[in-house]
Amino acid sequence: MKSSAPGKIILFGEHAVVYGRPALAVPVAQVQVEVEVVDSPRAGILINAPKINLHAELDALPPDHPVAAVILNLFATLGIPVPASGLEINIASTIPVAAGLGSGAAVSVALIRALALHVERSFSNEQVNELVYEIEKLHHGTPSGIDNTVIAYAKPVYFIKGKPGETFKVGKPFTIVIGDTGVPAPTKETVGDVRRLWLKNSSDFESIFNEIAQLSLIARRSIESGRPEVLGELMNQNHALLQQMTVSSIELDRLTEVARNAGALGAKLSGGGRGGNMIALVNSSDAETVAQALISAGAKQTVVTEVS
Ligand code: MEV
Repeated sequence: MKSSAPGKIILFGEHAVVYGRPALAVPVAQVQVEVEVVDSPRAGILINAPKINLHAELDALPPDHPVAAVILNLFATLGIPVPASGLEINIASTIPVAAGLGSGAAVSVALIRALALHVERSFSNEQVNELVYEIEKLHHGTPSGIDNTVIAYAKPVYFIKGKPGETFKVGKPFTIVIGDTGVPAPTKETVGDVRRLWLKNSSDFESIFNEIAQLSLIARRSIESGRPEVLGELMNQNHALLQQMTVSSIELDRLTEVARNAGALGAKLSGGGRGGNMIALVNSSDAETVAQALISAGAKQTVVTEVS
């Protein structure tokens, strides 16, 4: 049985979304996790995930290991014992790890769907989303839930923490270039740092979050009404607010600047920040030029995606 899940980018509202403000995220189908579950003549559950150097028996992993926790929680939810007969789980991924593209949530989504299919059960997107959110909470402390929601539904979402994600229409397709700094950026750390700063200086941080909330609202309206060109300036403003939150970095600032100079309509970091990925809004005819400029400026990888 095979199942796959896309990566994701946050267009607007990262970090502020942890504090109840709206954010917009879209799936990125150009990068994917694929999980295959096959019967095996050997007893036990063998997990192969070369991307994270994992080749281990389920029994040998601590129960809170990200992959083990998904498997154990899934069978507990289904109310059936973990199969004693042999299974091999192969996890292949083209999503960069710890880069703000949702690789952890995508592994969980694809793994749950593939295992559920294998035991002939089916889950709604909502059930998958809830299960993955529980796993995200184990590993990320205080996640908003936006990553699991956009990946479980594989549609653009307008998201407010604690509410079901709203999918929304894209009035006119637009093109985003994603540039990877190559610097690992564990979301848990940046989210924790923002929390410490917010506790010290809540009135400044609350007003930054409010400004970001406005950007997310305007962005949603612009996307729905087919005026995506407006998003460039909104991205620049969101990036400046993320800088004030201290979650940008020299590399992210450089790549966003390079993208703008190469013709992008606007650019910002995307995800937890301090490393990971940045995104730039481009006219589709400029996508290759901007992607090339990012590589020349040190980006480790670029992905061009159309939001539609
Ligand atoms: C991570 O992709 C987005 C953050 O806003 C954290 C979260 O929403 O859980 C930084």
